[in-house]
Amino acid sequence: METDLVLFIPAAQTAALYPLLEQAARGRARIVRDKPLPCLALATLRCLDIRMHGSGEHVRSPLVYPFVRTDRFSFDPPERAAHELSGPDWLVLGGNGEDLGNFVVQALDARIKDGQRPVLRVAPYADLQGPLPQEPRVGDTPFVFRKSSKNFNQPTWTKCVDQLLTLPEERWGEVGIANTSDLVHIFDEALTRLAPPAPRLILDLGCGLGQVARTLAQRYPGATVVGVDASAEAVAVASRAFQLPNLRYVAVDFARPLGFVKGSVDLIVSTNALPYAQDQLAAAQELFGLLSPQGLLLNHCRAEESHLFWDFPMSLALPSNTQIFLSDWFAAARRSGRNTEVLSVPADMAALFFMPNQAKVFADPLNAYADAHRQDGPGPYRPWLSHVLLAHSAQARPANEAALPLAQNHMARLGPVLNAVASAPREIQEAAIMAWICNAKMLGLVPEALDYLNAVLPDSAPVLQPVLGASLKAAE
Ligand SMILES: C[S@@+](CC[C@H](N)C(=O)[O-])C[C@H]1O[C@@H](n2cnc3c(N)ncnc32)[C@H](O)[C@@H]1O
Repeated sequence: METDLVLFIPAAQTAALYPLLEQAARGRARIVRDKPLPCLALATLRCLDIRMHGSGEHVRSPLVYPFVRTDRFSFDPPERAAHELSGPDWLVLGGNGEDLGNFVVQALDARIKDGQRPVLRVAPYADLQGPLPQEPRVGDTPFVFRKSSKNFNQPTWTKCVDQLLTLPEERWGEVGIANTSDLVHIFDEALTRLAPPAPRLILDLGCGLGQVARTLAQRYPGATVVGVDASAEAVAVASRAFQLPNLRYVAVDFARPLGFVKGSVDLIVSTNALPYAQDQLAAAQELFGLLSPQGLLLNHCRAEESHLFWDFPMSLALPSNTQIFLSDWFAAARRSGRNTEVLSVPADMAALFFMPNQAKVFADPLNAYADAHRQDGPGPYRPWLSHVLLAHSAQARPANEAALPLAQNHMARLGPVLNAVASAPREIQEAAIMAWICNAKMLGLVPEALDYLNAVLPDSAPVLQPVLGASLKAAE
């Protein structure tokens, strides 16, 4: 069967890209060169309908090169990698031509392996026109991303367990790992205001070395506190270091049903761990089911918004996997009759935290901001801050949802998140602009990419034009 793989490429790049595509097709596919299009309407493109497993999150997108590169995101491998999918059209915005050629080779080979006879159609476009509709359409290719079930912290616990077992808590920092501080202060205000006054059962999920569980056991001597962590090594360190009559630690995967009686838990806390639950909606539903009617769930972790913000434009098409989507937790809380309060915590704004390979250029302003604010504790929600603190309870003040980027469509959330730079402090504005320019340069985007960004993110044009416009021109 003959099937088309359609590549739309910038007309200005035709001379550079066509020979590389011809080479990629040689011996694999018949190559057809379409007449140049003066204007390509994004609404006509065949798209991927990308869903996050266990989440309401979705986005509809053609295969936009170089944004949709699944190898740049650490998800469990999808059943069929993006380049093997035969449905969507490919929209090339720039990037490295040889890399694109290799990507095309893989796609063609995958089709040949499937018994198809691919035809590579190359269609140059001079201009792009939006919008890119986000409602699923007949002919879309469904594509599901799954968070990795891997425990990313386990290698650290395995490597450090012997040393941690011999050191007292105040010297754990010498081991050189990040998760050694007691973060209870982040919860202080919410605990005072929202926790049941005499909790009976308290859980700390993904408790790591157990300091938070320990401090809660001291604060609430009448409660039983259980620290839960998937790592037997982390639990061994915590159990040895902290022995209190009302405290225990268990090595259990919190993504499975936890075995506590429904409605019996008065307080659940978690720091930097709940994003690891593969199925977020199922995990949230299970946890809200465990809570007593007046119970409180406090979740401190990274939210997707900081990925959308700092990793732009890489974040344009794909979500990340080590953060939560606010919308999932709002939805599950609402279903269980609870309100959600949302605060931000500048817990760790270090540049390396966001873009390990690219951080150097914007490290100074971001580190300056982080140093000045590390001890601030929770404040108003800001999408550009690293961490969010969610408080779910019947007594919580309902968040002003209109002011939050809560859409379940990745693309729809991105505009408000990017526009938040306009009201950010100067250090953040500088760091963001440098990060975006740096990411765009790394992708090798060309000016045509700005047309795409404007077409899919028209609300952000006033923020993006001056920033990326200059950078893409400089890259010409
Ligand atoms: C980033 S550490 C945070 C540890 C601690 N809460 C802190 O803030 O220092 C994440 C912790 O979650 C644990 N973890 C990851 N996936 C888990 C799962 N599915 N069930 C239970 N614990 C998990 C890891 O072993 C690790 O201790």
